[in-house]
Amino acid sequence: MKKYKIAVIAGDGIGKEVMPEGQRVLDVVASRYGFALDYDELPWSCDYYVKHGSMMPADGLQQIRNHDAVYLGAVGLPSAVPDHISLWGLLIKIRREFDQYANIRPVRLMPGIASPLANRKVGDIDFIIVRENSEGEYSSAGGRMYEGTEREIAVQESIFSRHGTDRIMRYAFELTRRRARKHLTSATKSNGISITMPFWDERFHAVASEYPDVKTDQYHIDILTAHFVRFPDRFDVVVGSNLFGDILSDLGPACTGTIAIAPSANLNPERLYPSMFEPVHGSAPDIYGRNIANPIGMIWSGAMMLDHLGHTEAAEAVVRAIEAVLQEGPKTPDLGGKASTKDVGRAIAEAIS
Ligand code: NAI
Ligand code: MG
Repeated sequence: MKKYKIAVIAGDGIGKEVMPEGQRVLDVVASRYGFALDYDELPWSCDYYVKHGSMMPADGLQQIRNHDAVYLGAVGLPSAVPDHISLWGLLIKIRREFDQYANIRPVRLMPGIASPLANRKVGDIDFIIVRENSEGEYSSAGGRMYEGTEREIAVQESIFSRHGTDRIMRYAFELTRRRARKHLTSATKSNGISITMPFWDERFHAVASEYPDVKTDQYHIDILTAHFVRFPDRFDVVVGSNLFGDILSDLGPACTGTIAIAPSANLNPERLYPSMFEPVHGSAPDIYGRNIANPIGMIWSGAMMLDHLGHTEAAEAVVRAIEAVLQEGPKTPDLGGKASTKDVGRAIAEAIS
Protein backbone atom coordinates (compact mmCIF):
# COMPACT_ATOMS: atom_id res chain seq x y z
CA MET A 1 0.00 0.00 0.00
CA LYS A 2 1.28 3.46 -0.93
CA LYS A 3 2.16 5.45 2.17
CA TYR A 4 2.76 9.21 2.33
CA LYS A 5 4.78 11.00 4.96
CA ILE A 6 2.95 14.17 6.00
CA ALA A 7 4.43 16.90 8.22
CA VAL A 8 1.54 17.98 10.45
CA ILE A 9 1.87 21.42 12.03
CA ALA A 10 -1.35 22.18 13.92
CA GLY A 11 0.15 25.50 15.10
CA ASP A 12 -1.85 27.82 17.32
CA GLY A 13 -5.39 28.52 18.49
CA ILE A 14 -8.12 26.79 16.51
CA GLY A 15 -5.40 25.21 14.35
CA LYS A 16 -5.15 22.72 17.21
CA GLU A 17 -8.92 22.06 17.13
CA VAL A 18 -9.48 21.75 13.38
CA MET A 19 -6.35 19.72 12.59
CA PRO A 20 -7.60 16.48 14.25
CA GLU A 21 -10.79 16.74 12.16
CA GLY A 22 -8.73 17.14 8.99
CA GLN A 23 -6.76 14.04 9.89
CA ARG A 24 -9.92 12.13 10.81
CA VAL A 25 -11.39 12.74 7.35
CA LEU A 26 -8.11 12.06 5.54
CA ASP A 27 -7.73 8.72 7.33
CA VAL A 28 -11.22 7.60 6.34
CA VAL A 29 -10.80 8.55 2.70
CA ALA A 30 -7.29 7.05 2.54
CA SER A 31 -8.44 3.66 3.80
CA ARG A 32 -11.38 3.74 1.41
CA TYR A 33 -9.13 4.50 -1.59
CA GLY A 34 -6.28 2.18 -0.57
CA PHE A 35 -3.44 4.38 0.59
CA ALA A 36 -2.11 5.53 3.96
CA LEU A 37 -0.92 8.77 5.52
CA ASP A 38 1.87 8.68 8.04
CA TYR A 39 1.73 11.84 10.16
CA ASP A 40 4.78 13.42 11.67
CA GLU A 41 3.26 15.76 14.26
CA LEU A 42 5.41 18.80 14.94
CA PRO A 43 4.75 21.16 17.87
CA TRP A 44 6.05 24.24 16.02
CA SER A 45 3.93 27.20 17.13
CA CYS A 46 3.87 30.26 19.35
CA ASP A 47 3.88 27.97 22.41
CA TYR A 48 7.10 26.51 21.04
CA TYR A 49 8.44 30.05 20.64
CA VAL A 50 7.66 30.93 24.25
CA LYS A 51 9.61 27.85 25.40
CA HIS A 52 12.51 27.88 22.94
CA GLY A 53 12.79 31.41 21.54
CA SER A 54 12.05 30.34 17.95
CA MET A 55 8.99 29.10 16.07
CA MET A 56 10.76 25.92 14.94
CA PRO A 57 14.11 24.27 15.60
CA ALA A 58 17.13 25.56 13.63
CA ASP A 59 17.12 22.41 11.49
CA GLY A 60 13.29 22.35 11.23
CA LEU A 61 13.11 22.70 7.46
CA GLN A 62 15.74 20.00 7.08
CA GLN A 63 13.55 17.66 9.16
CA ILE A 64 10.61 17.93 6.77
CA ARG A 65 12.53 18.49 3.53
CA ASN A 66 11.78 14.99 2.23
CA HIS A 67 8.19 14.67 3.43
CA ASP A 68 5.48 14.32 0.77
CA ALA A 69 3.55 17.39 1.98
CA VAL A 70 3.04 19.81 4.85
CA TYR A 71 -0.44 20.07 6.41
CA LEU A 72 -0.72 23.24 8.49
CA GLY A 73 -3.48 24.50 10.82
CA ALA A 74 -2.92 28.17 11.68
CA VAL A 75 -0.18 30.31 13.14
CA GLY A 76 -0.56 33.26 15.51
CA LEU A 77 -0.95 34.07 19.20
CA PRO A 78 -0.75 37.85 19.19
CA SER A 79 -1.12 38.08 23.00
CA ALA A 80 2.24 36.33 23.43
CA VAL A 81 4.18 36.66 20.16
CA PRO A 82 4.00 39.56 17.66
CA ASP A 83 2.41 38.43 14.38
CA HIS A 84 5.38 39.37 12.19
CA ILE A 85 7.63 37.10 14.27
CA SER A 86 5.27 34.12 14.29
CA LEU A 87 4.28 34.32 10.62
CA TRP A 88 7.78 34.99 9.28
CA GLY A 89 9.32 32.39 11.61
CA LEU A 90 7.13 29.53 10.41
CA LEU A 91 4.56 29.98 7.66
CA ILE A 92 6.39 32.43 5.42
CA LYS A 93 9.70 30.70 6.07
CA ILE A 94 8.30 27.41 4.75
CA ARG A 95 6.72 29.12 1.72
CA ARG A 96 9.97 30.89 0.78
CA GLU A 97 12.56 28.21 1.55
CA PHE A 98 10.53 25.46 -0.13
CA ASP A 99 9.99 27.73 -3.15
CA GLN A 100 6.21 27.34 -2.95
CA TYR A 101 5.72 29.94 -5.63
CA ALA A 102 2.16 29.08 -6.63
CA ASN A 103 -0.52 29.97 -4.12
CA ILE A 104 -3.83 28.41 -5.12
CA ARG A 105 -7.22 29.37 -3.74
CA PRO A 106 -10.45 27.90 -5.07
CA VAL A 107 -13.43 30.26 -5.04
CA ARG A 108 -16.63 28.29 -5.06
CA LEU A 109 -20.14 28.98 -3.87
CA MET A 110 -21.08 25.90 -1.86
CA PRO A 111 -24.56 24.58 -1.09
CA GLY A 112 -26.02 25.73 2.21
CA ILE A 113 -23.98 28.95 2.24
CA ALA A 114 -25.52 32.35 1.59
CA SER A 115 -23.42 34.45 -0.76
CA PRO A 116 -23.27 38.15 0.14
CA LEU A 117 -23.86 38.73 -3.59
CA ALA A 118 -27.55 38.87 -4.43
CA ASN A 119 -29.19 36.16 -6.53
CA ARG A 120 -26.18 33.88 -6.84
CA LYS A 121 -26.72 30.16 -6.60
CA VAL A 122 -24.52 27.08 -6.47
CA GLY A 123 -22.69 26.68 -9.78
CA ASP A 124 -22.60 30.44 -10.49
CA ILE A 125 -19.28 31.00 -8.76
CA ASP A 126 -16.57 28.40 -9.38
CA PHE A 127 -13.10 29.65 -10.18
CA ILE A 128 -9.51 29.39 -9.00
CA ILE A 129 -7.06 32.15 -8.12
CA VAL A 130 -3.38 31.53 -8.85
CA ARG A 131 -1.20 33.96 -6.94
CA GLU A 132 2.54 34.41 -7.54
CA ASN A 133 3.97 33.70 -4.10
CA SER A 134 7.72 34.37 -4.28
CA GLU A 135 8.56 37.81 -5.73
CA GLY A 136 6.75 40.81 -7.27
CA GLU A 137 5.68 43.62 -4.98
CA TYR A 138 6.60 41.66 -1.83
CA SER A 139 10.34 42.05 -2.10
CA SER A 140 12.84 43.09 0.52
CA ALA A 141 14.65 45.33 -1.96
CA GLY A 142 14.61 48.90 -0.74
CA GLY A 143 15.22 50.91 2.37
CA ARG A 144 14.70 54.04 4.40
CA MET A 145 16.85 57.14 4.59
CA TYR A 146 16.92 60.20 6.79
CA GLU A 147 14.60 58.49 9.24
CA GLY A 148 12.76 60.79 11.58
CA THR A 149 13.61 63.93 9.63
CA GLU A 150 11.64 66.06 7.19
CA ARG A 151 13.70 64.50 4.38
CA GLU A 152 12.65 60.95 5.31
CA ILE A 153 12.15 58.60 2.35
CA ALA A 154 11.04 55.00 1.96
CA VAL A 155 11.68 52.97 -1.21
CA GLN A 156 10.56 49.44 -1.97
CA GLU A 157 11.12 47.94 -5.38
CA SER A 158 9.01 45.32 -7.14
CA ILE A 159 10.93 42.38 -8.55
CA PHE A 160 9.51 40.69 -11.66
CA SER A 161 11.93 38.16 -13.12
CA ARG A 162 11.29 36.37 -16.38
CA HIS A 163 11.92 33.11 -14.52
CA GLY A 164 9.42 33.95 -11.79
CA THR A 165 6.79 35.39 -14.12
CA ASP A 166 6.92 32.64 -16.72
CA ARG A 167 6.71 29.82 -14.21
CA ILE A 168 3.55 31.16 -12.54
CA MET A 169 1.98 31.82 -15.95
CA ARG A 170 2.87 28.34 -17.10
CA TYR A 171 1.42 26.81 -13.94
CA ALA A 172 -1.81 28.78 -14.51
CA PHE A 173 -2.08 27.71 -18.15
CA GLU A 174 -1.47 24.04 -17.29
CA LEU A 175 -4.18 24.22 -14.63
CA THR A 176 -6.62 26.01 -16.95
CA ARG A 177 -6.07 23.47 -19.71
CA ARG A 178 -7.32 20.71 -17.38
CA ARG A 179 -10.60 22.53 -16.66
CA ALA A 180 -13.81 22.43 -18.66
CA ARG A 181 -14.04 26.10 -19.59
CA LYS A 182 -10.31 26.54 -20.35
CA HIS A 183 -10.43 30.27 -19.70
CA LEU A 184 -7.55 32.15 -18.08
CA THR A 185 -7.75 35.79 -16.93
CA SER A 186 -4.64 37.84 -16.10
CA ALA A 187 -4.76 40.60 -13.46
CA THR A 188 -2.72 43.57 -14.63
CA LYS A 189 -2.30 47.32 -14.18
CA SER A 190 -0.15 48.17 -17.16
CA ASN A 191 -1.90 51.50 -17.66
CA GLY A 192 -0.55 52.83 -14.35
CA ILE A 193 2.43 50.68 -13.35
CA SER A 194 4.33 51.35 -16.52
CA ILE A 195 7.42 49.13 -16.28
CA THR A 196 6.71 45.86 -14.47
CA MET A 197 3.08 45.42 -15.57
CA PRO A 198 3.71 45.79 -19.33
CA PHE A 199 6.43 43.16 -18.75
CA TRP A 200 3.83 40.95 -16.98
CA ASP A 201 1.46 41.38 -19.97
CA GLU A 202 4.25 40.58 -22.45
CA ARG A 203 5.10 37.35 -20.66
CA PHE A 204 1.39 36.45 -20.42
CA HIS A 205 1.06 36.76 -24.19
CA ALA A 206 4.34 34.93 -24.84
CA VAL A 207 3.35 31.95 -22.67
CA ALA A 208 -0.21 32.04 -24.06
CA SER A 209 1.17 31.30 -27.53
CA GLU A 210 2.17 27.85 -26.21
CA TYR A 211 -1.44 27.17 -25.17
CA PRO A 212 -3.67 27.84 -28.18
CA ASP A 213 -6.44 25.72 -26.59
CA VAL A 214 -6.79 28.14 -23.66
CA LYS A 215 -8.96 31.23 -24.03
CA THR A 216 -7.38 34.31 -22.44
CA ASP A 217 -8.28 37.81 -21.38
CA GLN A 218 -6.88 40.44 -19.03
CA TYR A 219 -8.26 43.24 -16.88
CA HIS A 220 -6.71 46.02 -14.90
CA ILE A 221 -6.90 45.18 -11.21
CA ASP A 222 -9.31 48.00 -10.37
CA ILE A 223 -12.06 46.96 -12.77
CA LEU A 224 -11.27 43.30 -12.12
CA THR A 225 -12.24 43.68 -8.46
CA ALA A 226 -15.52 45.23 -9.60
CA HIS A 227 -16.10 42.31 -12.01
CA PHE A 228 -15.49 39.78 -9.20
CA VAL A 229 -18.49 41.28 -7.42
CA ARG A 230 -20.72 41.95 -10.43
CA PHE A 231 -19.92 39.04 -12.78
CA PRO A 232 -18.22 36.28 -10.75
CA ASP A 233 -19.67 33.71 -13.18
CA ARG A 234 -17.31 34.99 -15.91
CA PHE A 235 -14.17 33.58 -14.31
CA ASP A 236 -12.52 30.18 -14.54
CA VAL A 237 -8.85 30.69 -13.57
CA VAL A 238 -7.34 34.07 -12.63
CA VAL A 239 -3.56 34.61 -12.41
CA GLY A 240 -2.09 37.57 -10.53
CA SER A 241 1.15 38.94 -9.11
CA ASN A 242 1.90 38.60 -5.41
CA LEU A 243 0.03 41.78 -4.38
CA PHE A 244 -2.87 41.53 -6.83
CA GLY A 245 -3.24 37.81 -6.09
CA ASP A 246 -3.28 38.53 -2.37
CA ILE A 247 -6.11 41.03 -2.71
CA LEU A 248 -8.13 38.91 -5.15
CA SER A 249 -7.75 35.83 -2.98
CA ASP A 250 -9.45 37.54 -0.06
CA LEU A 251 -12.10 39.18 -2.23
CA GLY A 252 -12.96 35.97 -4.09
CA PRO A 253 -13.69 33.78 -1.04
CA ALA A 254 -15.51 36.73 0.58
CA CYS A 255 -17.93 36.68 -2.39
CA THR A 256 -18.74 33.05 -1.56
CA GLY A 257 -19.74 33.68 2.03
CA THR A 258 -17.23 32.69 4.70
CA ILE A 259 -13.48 32.34 5.14
CA ALA A 260 -13.98 29.54 7.64
CA ILE A 261 -14.46 27.01 4.84
CA ALA A 262 -11.89 28.39 2.35
CA PRO A 263 -8.83 26.21 1.60
CA SER A 264 -5.47 27.02 0.06
CA ALA A 265 -2.37 25.35 -1.33
CA ASN A 266 1.18 26.65 -1.49
CA LEU A 267 2.73 24.63 -4.27
CA ASN A 268 6.19 23.87 -5.50
CA PRO A 269 4.91 22.48 -8.80
CA GLU A 270 8.25 20.92 -9.77
CA ARG A 271 8.07 18.90 -6.53
CA LEU A 272 11.66 19.68 -5.60
CA TYR A 273 10.29 20.53 -2.16
CA PRO A 274 7.13 19.55 -0.28
CA SER A 275 4.05 21.70 -0.90
CA MET A 276 1.93 23.05 1.96
CA PHE A 277 -1.85 22.91 2.46
CA GLU A 278 -3.64 25.17 4.96
CA PRO A 279 -7.00 26.81 5.56
CA VAL A 280 -7.27 30.49 4.64
CA HIS A 281 -8.39 31.50 8.14
CA GLY A 282 -6.03 32.22 11.03
CA SER A 283 -5.87 30.96 14.63
CA ALA A 284 -9.05 32.79 15.73
CA PRO A 285 -8.03 33.43 19.36
CA ASP A 286 -11.51 34.91 19.96
CA ILE A 287 -13.18 31.49 19.71
CA TYR A 288 -10.32 29.17 20.62
CA GLY A 289 -10.96 26.61 23.37
CA ARG A 290 -14.71 26.30 22.84
CA ASN A 291 -14.71 23.57 20.21
CA ILE A 292 -16.90 25.64 17.88
CA ALA A 293 -14.41 26.39 15.09
CA ASN A 294 -15.56 25.29 11.66
CA PRO A 295 -13.17 22.53 10.48
CA ILE A 296 -14.21 22.68 6.80
CA GLY A 297 -11.36 24.96 5.64
CA MET A 298 -8.91 22.48 7.16
CA ILE A 299 -10.69 19.46 5.67
CA TRP A 300 -11.00 21.03 2.19
CA SER A 301 -7.26 21.89 2.32
CA GLY A 302 -6.69 18.19 2.98
CA ALA A 303 -8.61 17.41 -0.21
CA MET A 304 -6.27 19.74 -2.13
CA MET A 305 -3.34 17.83 -0.63
CA LEU A 306 -4.76 14.51 -1.85
CA ASP A 307 -5.22 15.98 -5.31
CA HIS A 308 -1.57 17.10 -5.30
CA LEU A 309 -0.50 13.60 -4.22
CA GLY A 310 -2.29 12.21 -7.27
CA HIS A 311 -5.45 10.94 -5.53
CA THR A 312 -7.97 13.01 -7.47
CA GLU A 313 -10.91 10.69 -6.84
CA ALA A 314 -10.28 10.66 -3.12
CA ALA A 315 -10.04 14.46 -3.17
CA GLU A 316 -13.35 14.71 -5.00
CA ALA A 317 -14.97 12.35 -2.50
CA VAL A 318 -13.95 14.70 0.33
CA VAL A 319 -15.37 17.75 -1.46
CA ARG A 320 -18.65 15.89 -2.11
CA ALA A 321 -18.86 14.95 1.58
CA ILE A 322 -18.30 18.61 2.55
CA GLU A 323 -21.08 19.66 0.18
CA ALA A 324 -23.45 17.06 1.64
CA VAL A 325 -22.81 18.20 5.22
CA LEU A 326 -23.11 21.89 4.28
CA GLN A 327 -26.50 21.09 2.83
CA GLU A 328 -27.86 18.81 5.54
CA GLY A 329 -25.85 19.83 8.60
CA PRO A 330 -24.57 19.62 11.23
CA LYS A 331 -23.21 23.17 11.14
CA THR A 332 -20.96 25.15 13.46
CA PRO A 333 -22.21 28.49 14.88
CA ASP A 334 -20.46 30.59 12.19
CA LEU A 335 -22.91 29.02 9.71
CA GLY A 336 -25.87 29.43 12.03
CA GLY A 337 -25.77 25.96 13.60
CA LYS A 338 -25.11 24.59 17.08
CA ALA A 339 -22.70 21.78 16.26
CA SER A 340 -19.15 21.44 17.58
CA THR A 341 -15.93 21.19 15.57
CA LYS A 342 -15.89 17.44 16.22
CA ASP A 343 -19.55 16.94 15.22
CA VAL A 344 -18.84 18.44 11.81
CA GLY A 345 -15.59 16.49 11.36
CA ARG A 346 -17.35 13.24 12.23
CA ALA A 347 -20.28 13.99 9.93
CA ILE A 348 -17.96 14.60 6.98
CA ALA A 349 -16.00 11.43 7.75
CA GLU A 350 -19.27 9.48 7.88
CA ALA A 351 -20.50 10.98 4.62
CA ILE A 352 -17.42 9.48 2.97
CA SER A 353 -17.79 5.98 4.43
P1 NAI B 1 -8.78 34.82 11.81
O1 NAI B 1 -8.97 34.20 10.48
O2 NAI B 1 -8.06 34.01 12.82
O3 NAI B 1 -10.20 35.23 12.42
C1 NAI B 1 -11.06 36.19 11.81
C2 NAI B 1 -12.50 35.99 12.30
O4 NAI B 1 -13.04 34.82 11.67
C3 NAI B 1 -12.59 35.74 13.81
O5 NAI B 1 -13.75 36.36 14.31
C4 NAI B 1 -12.70 34.25 13.92
O6 NAI B 1 -13.40 33.81 15.05
C5 NAI B 1 -13.43 33.87 12.64
N1 NAI B 1 -12.99 32.54 12.16
C6 NAI B 1 -11.80 32.26 11.55
N2 NAI B 1 -11.72 30.95 11.29
C7 NAI B 1 -12.86 30.39 11.72
C8 NAI B 1 -13.36 29.06 11.73
N3 NAI B 1 -12.65 28.03 11.21
N4 NAI B 1 -14.58 28.85 12.27
C9 NAI B 1 -15.30 29.85 12.77
N5 NAI B 1 -14.90 31.13 12.78
C10 NAI B 1 -13.68 31.41 12.28
O7 NAI B 1 -8.01 36.22 11.59
P2 NAI B 1 -7.43 37.26 12.68
O8 NAI B 1 -8.35 37.32 13.85
O9 NAI B 1 -7.14 38.48 11.91
O10 NAI B 1 -6.03 36.66 13.14
C11 NAI B 1 -5.84 35.87 14.31
C12 NAI B 1 -4.42 35.33 14.30
O11 NAI B 1 -4.25 34.44 13.18
C13 NAI B 1 -3.36 36.40 14.13
O12 NAI B 1 -2.25 36.04 14.93
C14 NAI B 1 -3.01 36.35 12.67
O13 NAI B 1 -1.70 36.79 12.39
C15 NAI B 1 -3.13 34.87 12.42
N6 NAI B 1 -3.39 34.51 11.00
C16 NAI B 1 -2.77 33.40 10.54
C17 NAI B 1 -3.00 32.94 9.28
C18 NAI B 1 -2.36 31.68 8.86
O14 NAI B 1 -1.86 30.93 9.69
N7 NAI B 1 -2.34 31.39 7.59
C19 NAI B 1 -3.90 33.65 8.35
C20 NAI B 1 -4.57 34.79 8.96
C21 NAI B 1 -4.30 35.20 10.23
MG1 MG C 1 -3.93 38.03 2.53
